[in-house]
This record gives sequence, structure tokens and C-alpha cells, in this order.
Amino acid sequence: MFYDPDSKERALRHDPFKAIVVPRPIGWISSLDAQGRINLAPYSFFNGIASRPRMVMFSSESRKDSVRNIETTREFVCNLATWDLRDAVNQSSGDYPSGVDEMEKSGLTPAPSVKVKPPRVAESPCALECKLVSVTQLQDMDGNAIDNFMVIGQVVGIYIDDRFLRDGILDTGAMHPIARCGYRGDYAKVDTMFEMFRPETV
Ligand SMILES: Cc1cc2nc3c(=O)[nH]c(=O)nc-3n(C[C@H](O)[C@H](O)[C@H](O)COP(=O)(O)O)c2cc1C
Repeated sequence: MFYDPDSKERALRHDPFKAIVVPRPIGWISSLDAQGRINLAPYSFFNGIASRPRMVMFSSESRKDSVRNIETTREFVCNLATWDLRDAVNQSSGDYPSGVDEMEKSGLTPAPSVKVKPPRVAESPCALECKLVSVTQLQDMDGNAIDNFMVIGQVVGIYIDDRFLRDGILDTGAMHPIARCGYRGDYAKVDTMFEMFRPETV
């Protein structure tokens, strides 16, 4: 079949888009508001977008608290969302009023970051400390502004739980990262890895 996203007729019960862009890593974003109150929320429109320097992005459908905080304080932390922490990840996505500490609400412990003010989630095995590069309001193909805001941050510090380091290599599979799939409520658990190397160039 061909699915036309612009067609008024609903050819499928659910929009397949989010079931195709999978699995989406989850940036579990901690930030502080102007008063220094902690905010935590998961974002699966999230990814690494550059390695020199290291950069990440996440995108918010409407200007949510995380975006507002980061526009104000210019720092954030991306905590790794894992299988063990799945309930807390979900809990932290609750629609709490601004200023409510979702880390506390989710039973998590703030741990001090090294180079930025927002704390990381102590229970998470990895965290990327980030400084804001830009917040961009997205536009559609006709140049109309849409209610989505893309935050780009530069990674200035990386926390790794030593338990997952083996001879200087991070054992990603052992951390069991979780990722978002489509539809509502679908996730993947990453624990099977395989190796494949790029062809030698002549
Ligand atoms: C796994 C997961 C991924 C999510 N990804 C996004 C996302 O990419 N963009 C978004 O706007 N909301 C996303 N949400 C919803 C936000 O987490 C939710 O709206 C949250 O309350 C926003 O918090 P904040 O206002 O403190 O930033 C996601 C929720 C879950 C559970």
C-alpha cells in the first residue's frame, strides 16, 4: 500500500509514522528552572547529531517545561533510560505543573553534575552534561512555523557508572537501554548487539 499522510481518508487505524522511525533513543532530560527547581522528562525525538564536537538534539511538541528551562538556564543533562528504570521514565512524563520535581515524583535521586548545574539521575548508568547551542522553532515545508521546538546541546561532560566499563569499553547491552517504538505504549529493550565493519576503501 501507499500511505498518504496528507489524505483525509484514514487508510490505517493509526498513523504508521512513529512505528517506522524506530527504535528511537530516549533522552531523559533533566534541567533547572530560573528558581533552581529540578525538572525531568523523557523525549524520544532525541538523538546524537554530531561527534566533533559531540552534540545531541531533542524536540518538544509545544514549548514544554524542559524547553523553557533550557532557554532560561542554557544547560541540561541527558540521562540514559534503561529497562530497570522504565517505570520511573514513564512516571516522569506525567503532566505535572511547572515547578514540580519529577525526579522526586518518580522516586529518583538527584546527583550533582560536574560541569553543569542541573543534576543527573543518580540511578541512571550514563548521563551527558550539555550546554545549549540553539533552540529552533520548526517550520513546515511551506515555511510556516509549527508548534515544535528543537533543542541542540553540546556535550561537555559524560558520566558513566564504572560497573558497565570493561577494559575501557562501555558495555551498552548490559545497561539494557530502552527505546520508543510506535504505537502508544510500545518500547524496545536493547540487549542484543552484533558487530559489522565498514568495507575497506581502495
Ligand atoms: C518515552 C516517552 C517519550 C516522549 N517523547 C517526547 C518527545 O519526543 N517530544 C515531546 O514533546 N514529548 C515527549 N513525551 C512526552 C513528555 O515526556 C511529556 O509531555 C512531559 O510532561 C514533558 O515534560 P516537561 O514539560 O517537564 O518538559 C514523551 C513521553 C514518553 C513517556
